[in-house]
Amino acid sequence: MRICILGGDGYLGWPTAMHFSLRGHEVVAVDSMIKRHWATMVGVAPLEPTPFLQDRAAHWYKKTGKLIDVVVDDITANPGLLHQIFRDYQPDVIIHYAEQPSAPYSMMNQEAAIHTQQNNIIGNLNVMFAMRDNCPQAHLIKLGTMGEYGTPNIDIEEGWIEIEHKGRKDRMLYPKKAHSLYHLSKVADSNNLEFGCRIWNLAVTDLNQGVVYGTDTPEMDNDPELRTSFHYDDIFGTVLNRFVVQAAIGNPLTVYGTGGQTRGYLNIRDTLQCVELAALHPAKAGEFRVFNQFTEQFSILDLAQKVQKVSLQYHLDTTINHLPNPREEMEQHYYHAIHTGLPELGLRPCPLTDDVIAHMLECAIRAKESIRSVGLLPRVTWKHGMDERRV
Ligand SMILES: NC(=O)c1ccc[n+]([C@@H]2O[C@H](COP(=O)([O-])OP(=O)(O)OC[C@H]3O[C@@H](n4cnc5c(N)ncnc54)[C@H](O)[C@@H]3O)[C@@H](O)[C@H]2O)c1
Repeated sequence: MRICILGGDGYLGWPTAMHFSLRGHEVVAVDSMIKRHWATMVGVAPLEPTPFLQDRAAHWYKKTGKLIDVVVDDITANPGLLHQIFRDYQPDVIIHYAEQPSAPYSMMNQEAAIHTQQNNIIGNLNVMFAMRDNCPQAHLIKLGTMGEYGTPNIDIEEGWIEIEHKGRKDRMLYPKKAHSLYHLSKVADSNNLEFGCRIWNLAVTDLNQGVVYGTDTPEMDNDPELRTSFHYDDIFGTVLNRFVVQAAIGNPLTVYGTGGQTRGYLNIRDTLQCVELAALHPAKAGEFRVFNQFTEQFSILDLAQKVQKVSLQYHLDTTINHLPNPREEMEQHYYHAIHTGLPELGLRPCPLTDDVIAHMLECAIRAKESIRSVGLLPRVTWKHGMDERRV
């Protein structure tokens, strides 16, 4: 297949590019590098330096003989870009990761909230129009998030729900109660994409992904020249990634509130499996297909206790600190999300075992010297935004 990966410099984008390239697909990776800029602006960096995308692609070519084409440009600011790429390249599959991915970032202040929604929603519209005009037969795999649904007091279905109202029935998009202005940008994307399927016959898979954890994938082969950007900070780090780094330097694990908040999680290796399964089993023309992409549910406190337990093997005396919750969210709630679509296509999950946590912890211990204290404590509250004294 010819595969175009938007957001190819990112935590998930670069491993995805290698994964498909190794399996003989043609890959072009597009990225504006804007995430590197956002990270600098909020004073954070990945655990270890992440080589530039062009250098990683050159190293990959040297090592495997396989070419990953790289385009450095902004899909939102340059609406003509994707028209040109899709026209020339005629992708079979477009994998769209290229968005501002952080809830706290979107809640920092007015400017960051507007930037998030503009970057994400307009970028996604640019993808849709460029597909319509240049490669209407392509399959779009779009990364959404489980956070679009919030924590409703009923089961979360996979994107759609049958509703009976006053004796009549219809199949509607599942109602959303998003957790942040970032998550709301994804809700808008989902609505726009469903419209694009209905009106222009686009074929779209919306992957409502849970929280991803993990340091590496097999294609990285422990090679520092091929590593991905692993963030552990309050703005861009996902929770388990942050906990293992906190444990590695003997800091308390920062649980927000009681820690009863429950979400879906998956290993970065499973992200690659899911995206590959979606690509190999495409949505049909006109179909807006939704998968809830996670493998296990945990509460925040479950995760902290798992890390605490494994850290004992490394003689780390890890404590758990319950901080006032900076977010506005329920800390005890019902959570049951259906996620059968991807297993039905063949997903074989990598569960969160002690060995998986131990491997992450070892990576963090190895890079201990470079861990920054900025971002180990939350700086953004949902009520008041970024505490500027801590930037
Ligand atoms: N990592 C997770 O836990 C997680 C969970 C659910 C959903 N997601 C979604 O998956 C996608 C990838 O996540 P990630 O963790 O790899 O994020 P990331 O920030 O590491 O990667 C996104 C990449 O997109 C690029 N980008 C952003 N806006 C762009 C634009 N306008 N033009 C060109 N490039 C642009 C960034 O420079 C970055 O390299 C995101 O859409 C995110 O919302 C991630």
